[in-house]
Amino acid sequence: MTDTINSSVLILGATGSLGSRTTRMLRKLHPDLSITIGARDMEKAAALASEVGNATIARLDIAASDLGLDPGARYSIVVTALRDHSLNTLRYAQARGIPYIALSDGVFELGPIVAHHAYHPQASPILLLGHSNGGSPTLAALHFARDFETVEAVEIAILFDPGDPFGAVSGKDLERIEKIGPLPLVKEDGQWQWARAPLSGRFITSVDGSPHAAQAAGLQDVLSLGTATRAARVRIDLAVGLVASSKEGRGPSNEVIIEITGTQKNGTSGRFRYELIDPEGYAAMSARGAAVAIETLLGLAGRDRPEKGLFLPETLVDPAHLVKRLEGYGVTVRAA
Ligand SMILES: NC(=O)c1ccc[n+]([C@@H]2O[C@H](COP(=O)([O-])OP(=O)(O)OC[C@H]3O[C@@H](n4cnc5c(N)ncnc54)[C@H](OP(=O)(O)O)[C@@H]3O)[C@@H](O)[C@H]2O)c1
Repeated sequence: MTDTINSSVLILGATGSLGSRTTRMLRKLHPDLSITIGARDMEKAAALASEVGNATIARLDIAASDLGLDPGARYSIVVTALRDHSLNTLRYAQARGIPYIALSDGVFELGPIVAHHAYHPQASPILLLGHSNGGSPTLAALHFARDFETVEAVEIAILFDPGDPFGAVSGKDLERIEKIGPLPLVKEDGQWQWARAPLSGRFITSVDGSPHAAQAAGLQDVLSLGTATRAARVRIDLAVGLVASSKEGRGPSNEVIIEITGTQKNGTSGRFRYELIDPEGYAAMSARGAAVAIETLLGLAGRDRPEKGLFLPETLVDPAHLVKRLEGYGVTVRAA
């Protein structure tokens, strides 16, 4: 069993856009938790370690089976905020019986991770978290869906501001998915479908009421929402455009619009809209979701920690806990 007190949270790619924010968000939640900043740039790693405190640094070699890490070091979890096509990082976690968080995989890329789990199902818990924004939109949608008796559709849209750029590795991942990936997965008329135009596009309405052309994305959110709610229509669409806060000169936030169609438990039917607005942008919201996943896998979020299993965020994290954490971080969460 993992010893969360005497071992350290290992964040791989911790000096990157997502990794550094995840490190900071986790530190906000758990000031005493020991964190190891796994990186290849030791100067950046040392600066982050001294900023967050109670942190060590480790030089990474993800091509090596031991990841180039000290054999005597004890870790409580492996968080992979970089792209590891070898899955050495997953094998490392399985060999030590510690949880693993995968943050980079599109729906069509899950095969190798699932195969590793099938071979060693008892080894350690694996969380599939290639969802948009660290699983925050999906968990929030499921939180709101609890007010519904029946859910016919769940549609998520994310508006990215041009002033809130992707990290380098994220950019490459998106390019690769676009080049080699299949058409995006949606659920339509109760059928899982790889959507061509016109089904693959729609117009969304941003927080300030502006219309934006959006494209469906093959993200794991669709798997989670389509399975958890049994809605006949499930999709996630991404758009790029100026968000309300940028127009008002307050800097680029990240806007998530969640629309649920169905009948609420109070008998009201219709299409209901909810909004999440992260003032620090998309990578911050992703890091908040990742930090909540880490604390849950370590048993620090009011639930027992799992010893094994393959998880989607909603089969691990309590959606109400995620929403409470988002609000605590200063993210706007509202019915619109
Ligand atoms: N699920 C989500 O919500 C979500 C959100 C954002 C990102 N992501 C995923 O997270 C990953 C990181 O994205 P990002 O935006 O943070 O990218 P990024 O800013 O480029 O960060 C990547 C980090 O990994 C390090 N790195 C890259 N290759 C390495 C290697 N071979 N050995 C050691 N370190 C290596 C980089 O080191 P240097 O600083 O030395 O270059 C950098 O610190 C991507 O795969 C992306 O798809 C997921």
